[in-house]
Amino acid sequence: MIELKDVTISFDGQVILDRLSLSIKDGEFVYLVGATGAGKSSLLRLLYMDLKPESGTVGVLDYDSVTTRASEIPHLRRKLGIVFQDFKLLEDRDVFENVAFALYVTNARRSDIKKRVFHALSDVGVSHKRNQMPHELSGGEQQRVVIARALVNTPSLLLADEPTGNLDPGASAEIMELIRKINMRGTAVLMATHNYELVRKYPARVIQLKDGKLVDIEIK
Ligand SMILES: Nc1ncnc2c1ncn2[C@@H]1O[C@H](COP(=O)(O)OP(=O)(O)O)[C@@H](O)[C@H]1O
Ligand SMILES: [Mg+2]
Repeated sequence: MIELKDVTISFDGQVILDRLSLSIKDGEFVYLVGATGAGKSSLLRLLYMDLKPESGTVGVLDYDSVTTRASEIPHLRRKLGIVFQDFKLLEDRDVFENVAFALYVTNARRSDIKKRVFHALSDVGVSHKRNQMPHELSGGEQQRVVIARALVNTPSLLLADEPTGNLDPGASAEIMELIRKINMRGTAVLMATHNYELVRKYPARVIQLKDGKLVDIEIK
């Protein structure tokens, strides 16, 4: 699913990831923790190939950083679910269109798209908001729409970068329940987070980024 070997990246001469290796199996749930600036977002960017390693190799699904051409990266991204802290919804489109958007490029039939979008929105509990604009929704509802958008292509891997970072504790717990439900159906999850309370409440494998290296840790 994910295989990083001896990956190094640096910005402005400063090494951020230092010959880092990581392996994540099909269906696994993994938390990625580490201080602000440790390189969590950069590690996730490597995985959706928004960043190339300076040395070492990154393998995600059937793609690898050595042979994947730029023109193939959109194909990879369509097979991943990607969720950010700051939602990144299209502000000038309603909820339905935000989720449908990812399907238009796939040449799916309109009737099929409609069915899949309704299904994804119901799945995350916001189908009644389908004709509303993002700014009319609460943060928790917006994040549900983002998750619906991530799910609509039935990804085998979900990458989440501090998905609860902008939410209150109640909404955070709901989003966490959703992500766990998705994992339970077989989607592997790699989730960067600061929220140790959630990690304690929903235990899973935890990896920590520190000084450019990854270590498996236990959160007590
Ligand atoms: N595009 C970039 N250009 C320059 N420096 C960057 C860039 N992206 C990240 N950095 C730096 O790399 C370090 C790791 O950043 P990041 O991956 O965002 O960490 P985290 O997500 O753990 O907070 C930080 O010091 C950050 O300032
Ligand atoms: Mg970050």
